[in-house]
Amino acid sequence: MKKDLILCIIVFCAACITAGAQTDRMSLEEKAKCVVGWKREFFPDTNKGVCARTVPFPEYGIPTIALADGTSGLRLSRRESDRSTAFPANIALASSWDTALSREVGAAAGYEARGYNINVLLAPGVNIMRNPLCGRNFEYFSEDPVITGKMGAAYVAGVQSNGVATSVKHFSCNNQETNRSHVNTMVSERALREIYLRGFEICVKESSPWTVMTSYNDLNGVPMQENWRVISGILRNEWGFDGLCMTDWSISKHNTAAQLHAGNDLYMPGCDDQVEDIIKGVNDGTIDIEDLNRACRNVVKLGQRCYFTTPGQAPDLNLGAAVSRKAACESAVLLENRGMLPLPAGGSAAVFGVRSYDLVATGNGSAYVTCAHISQINEALKEAGTAVDAKLEDLYKKYVSFARADFDYNEKSDISIGKPLLPELEISRKLVEAAAESNDYALITLGRTSNEGEDRVLEGDYYLNDTEKNLIKDVCELFHAKGKKVVVVLNICGIIEMQSWKDMPDAILNAWLPGQEGGAAICDLLSGRKNPCGKLAVSIPVDYFDLPSAYDFPYDQPKQGRNRDFTEYKEGIYVGYRYFCTKDLKLSYPFGYGLSYTTFDYSGLRVKAGSSKVSVSVTVTNSGSVAGKEAVGVYVSAPAGGLDKPAWELKAFAKTGELQPGESETVRMEIPASWLASYDEAAATWKRARGKYKLRIGPDVTSPAIVSGFNGK
Ligand code: GLC
Repeated sequence: MKKDLILCIIVFCAACITAGAQTDRMSLEEKAKCVVGWKREFFPDTNKGVCARTVPFPEYGIPTIALADGTSGLRLSRRESDRSTAFPANIALASSWDTALSREVGAAAGYEARGYNINVLLAPGVNIMRNPLCGRNFEYFSEDPVITGKMGAAYVAGVQSNGVATSVKHFSCNNQETNRSHVNTMVSERALREIYLRGFEICVKESSPWTVMTSYNDLNGVPMQENWRVISGILRNEWGFDGLCMTDWSISKHNTAAQLHAGNDLYMPGCDDQVEDIIKGVNDGTIDIEDLNRACRNVVKLGQRCYFTTPGQAPDLNLGAAVSRKAACESAVLLENRGMLPLPAGGSAAVFGVRSYDLVATGNGSAYVTCAHISQINEALKEAGTAVDAKLEDLYKKYVSFARADFDYNEKSDISIGKPLLPELEISRKLVEAAAESNDYALITLGRTSNEGEDRVLEGDYYLNDTEKNLIKDVCELFHAKGKKVVVVLNICGIIEMQSWKDMPDAILNAWLPGQEGGAAICDLLSGRKNPCGKLAVSIPVDYFDLPSAYDFPYDQPKQGRNRDFTEYKEGIYVGYRYFCTKDLKLSYPFGYGLSYTTFDYSGLRVKAGSSKVSVSVTVTNSGSVAGKEAVGVYVSAPAGGLDKPAWELKAFAKTGELQPGESETVRMEIPASWLASYDEAAATWKRARGKYKLRIGPDVTSPAIVSGFNGK
């Protein structure tokens, strides 16, 4: 180990020296160009599908670096030659509670980026899901910073294992898309540190991402990209981040000098006036040349870290497809099952819902992936030997093909950002009645997608629209009248209202945005070939207005003022289950909730509180009749110590391997002692309260399997 460490230090120092040696020879104009993105028209013709590049300086041995999105896999161009794997969205991946899986997906995405000679994959998104209407929640992991950080860190490690850089984004507090380039996010220092920065902190400290992307929004009155205190003060100086900071694609507004001084090293996508600003600023003294030298060195160091000495080989997309299907299976959350699942083999299914025939694999925007194929639910059912009602299938397929809005948001560009969803199709009661007569069961898929740059809405999005409500009502009524069952599959970009309808079907499987293999994965789960093992990493309230942030979010699409020009995070640290548990509010489904086809018992809890960490181990036994995996959460209730505290906070989690009936596994987790501290704003420091810490190990935050405790000091 010591020898490796010494070698790493030598390599790192060499990188810094050579970076410095290279940049010392550059002129002011060359340095200015080095830190500003390369104009697209100068890209080499090889792959116009790349999102952005840095300017090459072959005379100094500085290569161009290619950057591409996104958070669900590699986003290239529309050309047939540019196909990559669409993986489950981060909101799905987080529901697996499996960091090893997150690393595997990252590694698979990084492998494809390497194959296409992409040096930086602009992922993962690690912002907190403060409110379910945020248009980019599907690109983020959770309402909780520990799940966010641990899953994000594992993803980073996976991607970077290929020599491809990541860009952990969007630093920080980019939690709404309405007016995203200008909204002033007003958040307390305690909530900033305990909730909104913690995920980034875990990523930086546990997986050393080679880049971080700074966000568009303002933070407490200062443009985030000009915020020296958070970028240089916290990210670099407190956490020890040694990579490159790039701006998010800030064309509309920028103060070049302030962005450089704050700690940004690379202006993306880059525009001419930024080069001029830098040259002018250095010459008139408003830009410190040392800031520019630092930025140049970090661009060169990034190139040294992620430049490929040999061209990539076209990736084998079958590898990604297998990982995508596995991840989709392990990320889906079984929410209801009243004696319906797993389905018997064969049989005949009445398949309703446009999404059953036109699955939403990934969300829109920079996360959109142009993949080679998408596995559809109806096709996967037939491939597995189920007869799908031909009349319904013909009707839906005609609708999808005829009315399909192949309209693309930016059809002029060679890079797709997806398309709007077709509205749900109305089905007559007569047709439902006929289907109930001639099929064994019904399956309904409901879908949602969303996009960067815009937030979701309540009517017809968070709440079901009338067509969807009538479809569920009619299908359940008419199939139940014949003693037949109904399963609803959710193909959604974020949570929706469920309380008003969740008791009508016999089963509900939430598959989220499951990636390109979603249809096959959903059928694997419905058939019992795979046992659902996902758990919610976001709470589902009874109603939107139960949320602490409900009114402090642009839910009504304001045109100016509150929630558009500025948004106040009045709930402070009480985000998601931290609020619902503390207020003891009823939920449709709590954080950590998810059913299985088997059951698990917990035993042998061991808690050892040391000075630097708390070690927790517990034995999980499969007490049911089929093999399965269990996600275990460790929640801590801390003594107040002069500060208000949430009732419970997730501090560690683990996922078992697949346990056969009767098989046990002891899972071991560690809670860094520093994570037990709260941020005391009055003292401007972290404080750990003395006293009794309660600890609960459970499948979810409301149903403890075991409660214990330890004395903290
Ligand atoms: C977008 C997004 C960012 C993405 C970048 C490049 O505006 O905010 O996530 O990586 O631009 O497409």
